[in-house]
Order: sequence, then structure tokens, then C-alpha cells
Amino acid sequence: MTLHSFSLLFYALATLCLNVCAVDLAWNGHTTPGSTTPARFSPYYVPPGAKSYDSASPLVLYSAGWTEVYSKSYVHNSQRGTDQVGAYLKFSFEGCGIEWFGSCNRRYGISHVYIDRVLVQKVDAWCDKERKQQRIFWDFALSKGKHTIQIVNTGERPGSTQPCFTSLDAFVVTQCPGVPSDPSPSPRSTSPPPASLQAQPNEEWTLEQKGSTGVHAMQLAIISPTHAMIVDKVEHNPLTLDGHPAWAALFNLQSHAVTPLSIKSNSFCAGGSFLSNGTLIVVGGNPVAENKTAPADFGDVNGLQSIRFFQPCYSSSAAGCDIYENPSQFRMASSRWYNTVIRMPDGSAMIIGGSKKGGWINNATTNNPTLEYFPPKSLHGSNGMPIHLPFLVDTLNSNLFPIAFVLPDGTIFMAANNDAMIYNWKDNTEQRLPSIPNGVRVTYPMAGTALLLPLSPSNNYQPEIFICGGSTVDDTKPSYEISSQAPASAQCSRMVLTKDGIQEGWKTEQMPEARLMPDAVLLPTGQVLIVNGAGTGISGYGNVLHQVGASNADNPVLKSVLYTPSAPEGSRFSQVGMPQSNIPRLYHSVATLVPDGRVMIAGSNPNLDRSAVKYGTEYRVEWLSPPYMSKRRPQLKKVPKQLDFGQMVVLSVQLQPQGQDQPDVKVALMDLGYVTHAVHANSRMVYLETALSEYGTELTITGPPNGNVYPPGPAWIVVVVDGIPSVAQQLIIGDGKSPEVDEEAQKNVLLNTSPDQYEDSKSGGGEE
Ligand SMILES: *[C@@H]1O[C@H](CO)[C@@H](O)[C@H](O)[C@H]1NC(C)=O
Ligand SMILES: *[C@@H]1O[C@H](CO)[C@@H](O)[C@H](O)[C@H]1NC(C)=O
Ligand SMILES: *[C@@H]1O[C@H](CO)[C@@H](O)[C@H](O)[C@H]1NC(C)=O
Repeated sequence: MTLHSFSLLFYALATLCLNVCAVDLAWNGHTTPGSTTPARFSPYYVPPGAKSYDSASPLVLYSAGWTEVYSKSYVHNSQRGTDQVGAYLKFSFEGCGIEWFGSCNRRYGISHVYIDRVLVQKVDAWCDKERKQQRIFWDFALSKGKHTIQIVNTGERPGSTQPCFTSLDAFVVTQCPGVPSDPSPSPRSTSPPPASLQAQPNEEWTLEQKGSTGVHAMQLAIISPTHAMIVDKVEHNPLTLDGHPAWAALFNLQSHAVTPLSIKSNSFCAGGSFLSNGTLIVVGGNPVAENKTAPADFGDVNGLQSIRFFQPCYSSSAAGCDIYENPSQFRMASSRWYNTVIRMPDGSAMIIGGSKKGGWINNATTNNPTLEYFPPKSLHGSNGMPIHLPFLVDTLNSNLFPIAFVLPDGTIFMAANNDAMIYNWKDNTEQRLPSIPNGVRVTYPMAGTALLLPLSPSNNYQPEIFICGGSTVDDTKPSYEISSQAPASAQCSRMVLTKDGIQEGWKTEQMPEARLMPDAVLLPTGQVLIVNGAGTGISGYGNVLHQVGASNADNPVLKSVLYTPSAPEGSRFSQVGMPQSNIPRLYHSVATLVPDGRVMIAGSNPNLDRSAVKYGTEYRVEWLSPPYMSKRRPQLKKVPKQLDFGQMVVLSVQLQPQGQDQPDVKVALMDLGYVTHAVHANSRMVYLETALSEYGTELTITGPPNGNVYPPGPAWIVVVVDGIPSVAQQLIIGDGKSPEVDEEAQKNVLLNTSPDQYEDSKSGGGEE
């Protein structure tokens, strides 16, 4: 049969597999900004390290009844199809992932997919408009070893009167995620540790690998007792939505179910923060993904000025939770990639720094040395427009994703590159602080991690900043003079941010291992867990010497370390009872405390797009359980949904003291932050004034004194008894109202900016 007569025959059959209530959900026909022709989404993608097998491969065995058709729009110009009931094909492969690509149209119906002889899915390839190179079935969770996939055409579909078709264009096989090629323990731990360092049974941590994030976990925030929000860049993730790969999802902390979110703009390297009313904003990103820098045409729109809204959503099934954006109404006044967002004492968000376009290390051309607010503010004559920040000029080049925390006097601590300052946003002044010692740079791409240590009424909320890891690599060097083997820094630096503390300056200590891109996670015990990162190299991918796969960093640090800020100097770091992971967590890794007290660890993707080479795109989740998880834990009951500043509330508690003595009882508010690129924006722990009733069953707590100490918005409350924390419960601090909107400033931003300045600037009409 000629190609022509074959397609005529298809036309004749065209109405037969018709669905009565056809809804075409696919993303096709989208016109990307800067283009005039609608582009077809073609999800066929072979990640580096994976292998594609064409329909014509001798490894695919067909039963009778299949016909080969030819067209340039098929993978390798050919596809096989059949409308014979019971016709099948078989393909054996070795690996952990299999994807089946083929066509869909109105003549297609249901196929049965068997893996290793087990029926795993009934797949319907019907669609309203003909589409080629569609991913029809996939499974990325196969066990290590050899597998056989069998596809059987049922010829059926509800309502069809004639046999329906199925087709195979190509299979893509993904190898199993690797373990590091050199898992040999560091010299430090080859001999058994001295008895004093061996874990007592009550000091055992456990590490469990369970669940998959569906979209790569570049950004992570806990949004409810049951869910985390995960945000990625536009790339070929396994999770799909409306016929295209998803790049954001809700992840169920208990069942590990993932629900895709329909984010519209490219959120590549956005920042995020909750506002006082519980709404989460995800801010900034990258232009539309293009071939050379990212996968082509997902139907995404430019995210550089995006403000995406995720309204509070406490549904335990994630039903009705979604993210929306409307750039004609809400957008930033300037383009920002790698910006940091923090919640302010008035419940609004401050959006700091970033680059005006995507790239790698910042430079004077791309730098956006300003801050702006959402909702926009009329401060210092800005009328909502960006406010210049000299600090972000002086800290070039390694100054993206600046570190920032609200201090208890309402000023803002910032660190970037090798420097630090305190910004007074009310009078727009910078107080420069001593540089971080020993030339250590702490922000992208020399990323360290930072926290504001717990604030306590017992010392009048004396703020102390803690910054760990980073690199001393010269940030003026071009990438081709930097190696993935350049050592990271093991330095942690602490400074009390009071007049006296600043005079005393930074105090440094050394982590057991050097780390670039670590994550610092505050535990409810007031300790800090340092996890993830690389022993050598620099952030990013694909542009330094000695890349591993595409990774600019190497020597993953596989064991976490616990830091006890209040312990005497010299005994603050401990790895006693700490398990070692076998999953490298390099660039684009994340970690957060989850409400039950465990630490969720995800991500790593030093790649342009989903990749299966060494340091490939990592979707597996690990759960690190501190020793307290296996103890009898205290409980908080009758936690109010809202706690205002200075408000006194009586909670009932079940203390479960660990000893005979008077129990040590603390109550803390925690902000679990918005985590990305080693920045834990808004991460915070504030102890509350408490009084325990005579019989230890009631606890009177007093809300934090003001929004400087705990910026109004979502929080988690825990009671910690003799060092054992309860499960954390969510509440809102403050009155729960929306941040004030300055209508004038908001209007001015819309009047003076366009929704897509980046595209405007490319066509010469922009204002950058
Ligand atoms: C993207 O890639 C496709 C296929 O390789 C090519 O036809 C198209 O011109 C590319 N588009 C751009 C913007 O480079
Ligand atoms: C600045 O950075 C951009 C984005 O990475 C890059 O395209 C440009 O060449 C850089 N400019 C200079 C002067 O290095
Ligand atoms: C919270 O405030 C922001 C900013 O004004 C607004 O866009 C959002 O809709 C508000 N959310 C709720 C739940 O009211």
C-alpha cells in the first residue's frame, strides 16, 4: 500500500472511533511570544544517557497485522500501526524506565500494556486532532534488570463500531539511576569510630528512600499538613498535564501521590514567599524555553516578571489547589532570574536582586541591582518601581539568590558574594558589615547556605546569622578556567547582629566536610541539619572544566551533619548515628523539615533537561528521621487557626516528659521557608513566652511581640519537651489579612512596564 492510499484509508475510517463527548485537552497549537505561527508540541525526547529504539528496530517483534508508514514527522521517518484486534508487539530491554511514543487521532483506541507479562495499563490513544510523537505510556519505576513490554491492540474504544488503531513510533529506555561510582567512605570513617562517637540506640537517625517527585524538585515549600509544593523549570519531566510535561506539582507527604499544577510561565530559578494572608507567591523565572537553552515549545510563557499565586489550600487530596498568574494585572516591574523573596514585617514581600535574563554567573550587563515589593510600595519616591541597591553592584559577580532575613528590629540582613550588610528599608540605607572571613563566597554560583538562628525572648530576640559552605574560587574567572574539582569551603561563619556582636565580628568553624550548595534545615530542637551538596566545583551545568556528565560540581557529600548552635565551640558538629545516602544531591537539590518532624530531601539536576547520565535528573525522595521520631512525643491540642501578636492563648498539652525531673518545655513557631538553590528564604524559628499550668496539662502561650520578630503569615507551632518535639501544626500569625495595597503604586507599575520586557528588549522596543 502506498503512503497516499494508506492515509486515504485512514480518512475513510476517521469517524469510526469517535468519542461522543470529545474534549481536546492537549497543549498543541500554542503560539509562543515572539512567534506568529502556532507550534505543535512534540514530546518525543531522548534524555542524555537514555536510548531510543525506532519502530523499525529488529529488537521490536511484531505479530501479524502491522503496517509500516513513512513520514518525515515520525521518529526516523517511520511508524508502525495496526487496526487488527489482538495484534501485538514485544520489546525486551534493560533499564528502569520505558516510554512508548506513537500517534493519536480519532481512529485510535485502547491498547493493553503488559510489563513482564503483567497487565499494567489500558491506554487510550484517541485524540481529537492528529498528533505524532506523543508519549502514550511510560513507567520510570521499574526494578533494575531486564524487562519486556508487550502492547496489544484491543481494537476497542467505547462507542466505536469499527476496530481502532494503535501505533509505535519509538521506545525510549532509561537506565536505572546510578549510585556514585566511588561510594568508598571517606578516610575519616574507615576505622570504627571511638566508643564515645558510636551512636547510642537513642541517637540513631534513619534514612529511607520513598516516593518520586514527578517533576524535578528545584523549589520546595510545605503548603499544608499534607502537601509540599514542588516547582521546576520547563523540562521533560515524567509527570504530565494536558498532554505536556508538567513543571510544578503538589506532593503528598504521606501517600507520596503527585498532582500536577498548571503553571503557565517558565519558573526556572524563581523565588517564593508566603504573604500575611497565607497566599504563596512564586516570583521571577526565565524566558520561554528555547531549543538551545532548554527544550522547545512547551507552550510556556516568559516567567522573568511573573508573580504566580497559590491561594491557601488545605485539601488533603490537593483537590482544587492550583496556581494562577495574570501578567496583565500582576507582574514585577523588572525582569528577575535568581531573585530572593522574603516576607516583610507588614506581610508584603520584598523581591531582591537577580539577573535580567538567564545565563550563569551575574555580570554588570545582566545585573538587576534593585529590590521591589509585592504588593508594590510607594517608598523613597519609587511609586512601585524598583529601588536601587548599591550592595548588589558591589557584590558582583557571584551575587545571585542573595541571602536575606528579616531581623527583630525590622531591618533586613543580606549577604551576597563575600559581603554582608543590614538594609534599613524604611530609610533606604545600607550598613555594611565585615566581609565573610577567608574570602569565602556564599551566593550563586559559589552557593553556601544560611539561616537566622532561633530567636528567643530569653535574650530579647538577639539575632545571630549562620552561613555555611560556599567557595573561594575567583568569581572573575571565566567558566573555562574553573574546574569541577575546585575544592568547596568547609567554613561556617556566625555573627551576632547587635552593635557589640558586629564589633566582635564573624566567628568561624569548620564542618567535617567542605560543601558547595548545602542545605541548612532548622529542626524543632533548635539544631541545624546540614545536608546535600558537593565537595568540589561550582553551581550550574555544562560550562566548566572536567564536567561530570553536565555537572559543574563533583564529589557529592553523602552524609548529613548536625550542628548544635548552643553547644560549646569545638563540639557543635556531630555525625553520630547519621546514615549515609547513596543519592548524590548536587545542583538543584532541596531539603525541608516536614510537619511530622522528618526532613524531606529531594532533587539534583545539574542538567539542561531531564538526563540519565551521571548526576542525572533525580526524582527520588529521601526521608531523614532524627532520633526523636522514634520517641514518645508530646502533643499539642486545641491549637488555634490564628494567633495574633502578643495574644495569650491556652493550649492543652500532653507532655510525655522523658525523665523524672521538672520537664524542660519550650514552644516555638517555625517558618519552613521556600527552598531553592541552597537559599531557605523566610526559614525561621521563634520561641514563645510560655507558662505551664500546675499539673502540666495546660500551656499558656503568648504570640510573638510583633511582625519584626515573626513576619505575619503562616507558621508551624511545636512544643518541645526535654528535647523531643511534637508534630508541628499550622496556623497563621497576625490577623491573617492581606498585605496593604497601594493602588497608586500598583497602577504606576502597570502603566510603566509591559508584561514581557524581555521580548520587547529583543525587538528593540524595551526599556531595559
Ligand atoms: C528548534 O529545533 C527544531 C528541531 O530541531 C528546529 O526545527 C527549530 O528551528 C529550532 N528552533 C529554534 C528557535 O532554534
Ligand atoms: C553577562 O552574562 C550574560 C548571561 O550569562 C552573558 O550572555 C554575557 O555575555 C555576559 N557579559 C559579559 C560582559 O560577560
Ligand atoms: C492575599 O493578598 C494578595 C496580595 O494582595 C492577593 O493577591 C491574594 O489574593 C490574597 N489572598 C487571599 C487568600 O486573600
